[in-house]
Amino acid sequence: MKRLRVGLGDRSYAILVGQGAARLASRELGDRRGNLAYILADRRLGRQTHALVRALRAAGWKTHVARVTASEAFKDFKRIYPLYGDLLKAGADRHSVLFALGGGVIGDAAGFLAGTYLRGIRWVGVPTTLLAQVDSSVGGKTGVNHALGKNLIGAFHQPTLVACDLDFLKTLPERERLSGLGEMIKYGLIYDRAFYAWLERHWEGILGGESRSLEEAVSRCLKWKARAVAADERDRSGVREVLNFGHTVGHALEAATAYRTFRHGEAIILGMQAATWLSVERGHLDGRTGARIRAFLASLPVPGVPAGIKAQRLLTYVRKDKKAQAGKVRFVLLRDVGKTVLDRGVADSLIVEACNSVL
Ligand SMILES: NC(=O)c1ccc[n+]([C@@H]2O[C@H](COP(=O)([O-])OP(=O)(O)OC[C@H]3O[C@@H](n4cnc5c(N)ncnc54)[C@H](O)[C@@H]3O)[C@@H](O)[C@H]2O)c1
Ligand SMILES: [Zn+2]
Repeated sequence: MKRLRVGLGDRSYAILVGQGAARLASRELGDRRGNLAYILADRRLGRQTHALVRALRAAGWKTHVARVTASEAFKDFKRIYPLYGDLLKAGADRHSVLFALGGGVIGDAAGFLAGTYLRGIRWVGVPTTLLAQVDSSVGGKTGVNHALGKNLIGAFHQPTLVACDLDFLKTLPERERLSGLGEMIKYGLIYDRAFYAWLERHWEGILGGESRSLEEAVSRCLKWKARAVAADERDRSGVREVLNFGHTVGHALEAATAYRTFRHGEAIILGMQAATWLSVERGHLDGRTGARIRAFLASLPVPGVPAGIKAQRLLTYVRKDKKAQAGKVRFVLLRDVGKTVLDRGVADSLIVEACNSVL
């Protein structure tokens, strides 16, 4: 079991990574006797829900489970509003703790519920996808979608504890593992050359769900995520911005395919290929390193971009991306493996070429 810490003064919290992390988390929080643990669970996760409830009861908690269908459509006011009523009826008070058991969809919605119910109660993340374990569960960005865009309604509300239980990943389909791997590779490329080299050797173990590789990789990623969050909690100083590497073109691919073709991390793998191509083209990164990175990314089993998606159309989505400032898109690019540079000077014609490099 590995233990990490997000240092945020009186909002600091621990992250547990390993097999049995959820059981350990149940014992971790103080003054719990008779307190209510309200568990918002992805209804697909029967076995994991059962295990969490058993562990919480053994540690003295009262429990209440709300099972929901956790597709992206769940991140909607209309879907989560009834849960405030359910919390009230279950008797949830200021001492209750909301547990988010599921992927990023459940984490974002549960964190938002916890942040707004009674003006804020504590919440614990128990992420069950690799993507949620290495990324969305840590950092306190919570919220729901709006018809005009994703994640537009929300608030920062840090969890009090995050338990990344590797046993809970056992039922995860391979494509969801690949999605998490995409975000892992991102951490290697932007922060950590040694980790990137390790991933080039161990990625198959991760896709295969091998526990030792997972524990090493998840904790390594979270160390970096925790550091970025501690330095820039509200994503204002630019420290967290480098985490958007690969996301400009990646988001455009997701939006242009109506979020149906790619899992998030798969689109990011393609987005990182485009960003690496741009890094070389803009003179930040040497060509050999760029070619090696792109070859590795291209070797991963990501679905192809549908034939009807044209680079010019992707450009319109890139320009709509919220990181465009004063008409200029800000690209996070690579100077080397583990080193980034922010580039505001990428011409539209070059963005189109970069998109073409992955079509
Ligand atoms: N808050 C943040 O900082 C942040 C960061 C990145 C992404 N996000 C959000 O996260 C969401 C995506 O998260 P996700 O990729 O985890 O998606 P998800 O929660 O939709 O889960 C993906 C799929 O896997 C299933 N699943 C979850 N755990 C499983 C398990 N252990 N076994 C079998 N199936 C399982 C789910 O039912 C779902 O079908 C998006 O809404 C995105 O906006 C938030
Ligand atoms: Zn991402």
